[in-house]
Amino acid sequence: MYPLDREKGELQFGKSSATELIEQFGSPLYLYDEETMRARCREMKNLCSLPNFRVYYSAKANTSIALLKIARQEGLHVDAMTVGEIYQEKLAGFTKEEILFLSNNVQPQHFQEVIDQDILVCIDSLSQLETYCALAPGKEVYIRVNPGKGAGHHEKVITAGKVKFGIEPDGIPEAFEIAKKHSCRLTGFQMHIGSLFLQGEEFTPAIQTMLDIAKQYPQIEYIDFGGGFGIPYDREQEQPFPLEKFSETFTSLLTNWMEETGRKPIFAIEPGRFLVAEAGSCLIQVQATKVNSGIKFIGTDLGFNFLLRPEFYGSYHEIIHATNGDNSQKEVVTVVGNVCESGDHLGKDRELPLIQEQDLLLIRDTGAYGFSMASNYNSMMRPAEVLIQSDGKARLIRKRETIETLVNNQIF
Ligand code: LLP
Repeated sequence: MYPLDREKGELQFGKSSATELIEQFGSPLYLYDEETMRARCREMKNLCSLPNFRVYYSAKANTSIALLKIARQEGLHVDAMTVGEIYQEKLAGFTKEEILFLSNNVQPQHFQEVIDQDILVCIDSLSQLETYCALAPGKEVYIRVNPGKGAGHHEKVITAGKVKFGIEPDGIPEAFEIAKKHSCRLTGFQMHIGSLFLQGEEFTPAIQTMLDIAKQYPQIEYIDFGGGFGIPYDREQEQPFPLEKFSETFTSLLTNWMEETGRKPIFAIEPGRFLVAEAGSCLIQVQATKVNSGIKFIGTDLGFNFLLRPEFYGSYHEIIHATNGDNSQKEVVTVVGNVCESGDHLGKDRELPLIQEQDLLLIRDTGAYGFSMASNYNSMMRPAEVLIQSDGKARLIRKRETIETLVNNQIF
C-alpha cells in the first residue's frame, strides 16, 4: 500500500510528489507501487506451505508487462484467457510451462496458436472439448468445473451456478469419454466461483465440493480453485481478507484430502485483484467545479472510459485530495469524469478538503481491472502508466496513447 506520505500538503510517491508526477507524465496517470505488489505476491505464495501448492497470477486484472515481470520474479505462474495475454506474458519472461490457458468460447484458430506454443489448456464446455481434442490429439487437457454456487461483489462477476461457465459435475464422465476418444489425457479440474469475496466462508464450501468431485476421479493430478480474494476498497467499512485464518482452513482441507486419498496433485489458486489492486492508483486533475441542483460537482479528466468499475458495477474507490491535506475545512462533493454520459461518476457525496481547478486527486486501488478495462470511448487516448520502483524512482512503463493510435487501424 502506498504509505500516502504527505509533504507540505502534497502526496508523495517514492521520490516524487503528486505535482512532479503529473508535470512529468501528464494527467490522468495510472500509478503502481512495486513494493506493494511484491508484498501481495508473497502473501499469496505463503497462503499454503505445501510443496505442491502453486499460485497463478490472473493476468486479466492487469497485463502491463512490467507488472507481469514482477509477478514472475516473485515466483508466480500465470493464467491467460487469450492469445493476447499469452503474448504479453511471454514478453515478461514466462515460459510455456508457467502459463495456463483458461479458455472460454475460443475460436479454433486461437486454440491452434496455443497448441503450437505447447501451452496447457483448460476447456470450459463439452462442445469445445470436442473441438480442442480433435485439434490436439494425444495432448494433456484440463476442464473447468462449475461447482454450482458462486460468490462475488456483483452479479456480473459471479461465475459459478446458473452462468455460462464450466462443465457441470454430471458432465464430467462425458468429458473423460471425449478426451479418451482423441487419446487426450484429462488430468486437471479448475474452477473459479467469482470475484471479490472478503470472507473465506464463501470460498470454503466450493473448495470442498471441488475436492469431493476430484476424489471420484483418480486420473486428476491438478486441482485449481480459481481466484476471487477480495480487498477492502472501503477501508472504513470493510476488513481485509482474513488470509491467516483462511490459510489454516485451506491447508487442512488439502492435507486431509491427500491423507484420505493417498494422492498428491498440484493444488493451485488464481488470484488477480488481490495481487495488484492496492498497488495501483490513479492520479487525476480537476478541470472544473460547479453546482447543479445543489450538488457540487468536481469535474476531472478521468472518465469511465479509463476507470470503468464505478460506472459498471457501482464500485466504491476511495478518493483522496492529493494536493491539499488541510482537513480543517471540508465539503461534500460528487466527483465525475469527462465522458458524455451522466453515469460518469467516480464517487458520490464524498467529504473532501476544499477542491479547486487544477488540484490533483488520487483514486485508490485501481491496479486491478483499471487500465485492463480501459477503452478509447469518446476517442480519448488511454493514460500512461508509471511504476514507483522499490528504490523510489518513478519509471514510465506504458506511454500515453497518441492521436495516431486512434486512427492507425482505420482505412479511409
Ligand atoms: N480465474 C478466472 C478464471 C477468472 O475469470 C478470474 C477473474 C480470476 C481467476 C481472477 O479473479 P480475481 O482474483 O481477480 O477476483 N472486472 C471485475 C472482475 C472480473 C473478474 C473476472 N475474472 C471487477 O472489476 O471487479
